[in-house]
Amino acid sequence: MAKQLQAIRGMNDILPGESAHWQALETTIRSLLTGYGYQEIRLPIAEKTELFARSIGEVTDIVEKEMYTFDDRNGESLTLRPEGTAGCVRACLEHGLLHNQTQRLWYAGPMFRYEKPQKGRYRQFHQVGAEAYGMAGPDIDAELICLTARLWRQLGLDAVTLQINSLGSSTARAAYRERLVAYFSARQDELDEDSQRRLHSNPLRILDTKNPAMRAVVAGAPLLLEHLDPESAAHFAGLRALLDSAGVAYEVNPRLVRGLDYYSQTVFEWVTDTLGAQGTICAGGRYDGLIEQLGGQRTPGVGFAMGMERLVAMLAARGTTGADQAPDAYLILVGEAAQQQGLALAEQLRDQLPGLRLRMHCGGGGFKAQFRRADHSGARFALILGEDEVRSGSIALKPLREVQGEQRSLPQNQLAAHLRALLDA
Ligand code: HAM
Repeated sequence: MAKQLQAIRGMNDILPGESAHWQALETTIRSLLTGYGYQEIRLPIAEKTELFARSIGEVTDIVEKEMYTFDDRNGESLTLRPEGTAGCVRACLEHGLLHNQTQRLWYAGPMFRYEKPQKGRYRQFHQVGAEAYGMAGPDIDAELICLTARLWRQLGLDAVTLQINSLGSSTARAAYRERLVAYFSARQDELDEDSQRRLHSNPLRILDTKNPAMRAVVAGAPLLLEHLDPESAAHFAGLRALLDSAGVAYEVNPRLVRGLDYYSQTVFEWVTDTLGAQGTICAGGRYDGLIEQLGGQRTPGVGFAMGMERLVAMLAARGTTGADQAPDAYLILVGEAAQQQGLALAEQLRDQLPGLRLRMHCGGGGFKAQFRRADHSGARFALILGEDEVRSGSIALKPLREVQGEQRSLPQNQLAAHLRALLDA
């Protein structure tokens, strides 16, 4: 036998048994985003590598070691998108969507990062993201957060908490960075290898370390939140007041720094402790400098992205079933004449009852075997077309989910009306 191939490590198949969860989640998110006035934008999966280097930052984990980068046949360096914000800004600039106007956009799809796969962390994963442009105040930050809070309520996910922080303006951050480098330089021997390396390239990321041995030295580090520029402090106070008035609970986490360099001012993460180590289900923040950095006019931007695999895992763990995919009716066709007529009958029924979930038996076989299939499918009704029915222009209808479902025979031309009445009941 030929050798079977397997999927790439960290890139998952979403099997039929799981896809109902995904569809239910996607439908809920889409209608919520539409309700808040966000419009969908569909972006390419690959972009020029330079886009990510210039936006996410040269000295981030993502750009340094996690990108799927390759040269195309023309020798141009391309990268499978590790996130959606950079591509969204690129598209908005390219198509002039930011000229004297605000935008509320969302996107969904696969992202790629060469990370070490583990539960909740994959090399191909899916995000739904939202980005808002042209709005500088904390009102839009708060609206985005309220939208996500509403989503968790709609999904019935209550084991989630919101952490917020402000990274200040880039000038305030530069001054803070110097203070931080001085602090950590004086304690070099307490730093692990990764942090030593980051000390001069990206010292803020040291605050984000997951190494327990570093906890004490990080705990003593100066806090950016205490050195904010007045404008950022006012923005952050404004955000807090808005969240308070909307009744959204949050925790200020002064060590929340995020793994992408484009952020300034607001950053936030929704976390749960029900998923193990990979507990961030949604994360984002403000990136007022990014658009200019990518060649546009200075324009405010803020957004978030949520990790769909992690949300699906939370829904599945709660035992929530996805949308019911069982058919309404299963059409059993016994004998050659019935098999001849079956397709036309099924198509006619689909015309008459739009949205009907009808599964037609294909592949022949005797009544018993077909009936077993009908039962296994979870269908509410079996429709039986046998030789007698063909001869008399009738069809048998048998309820499969009622305790004493009586089989009855109907003229074929009354089937649609009958079925509609039963399904509406
Ligand atoms: P991020 O924090 O890198 O932000 O990713 C957002 C979310 O994507 C995470 O909170 C997590 O739920 C999910 N995620 C990230 N990496 C993985 C992975 N390897 N496996 C499974 N899930 C993962 C961004 O991507 C920003 N673009 C968010 C943003 C939008 N900020 C402003 N606008």
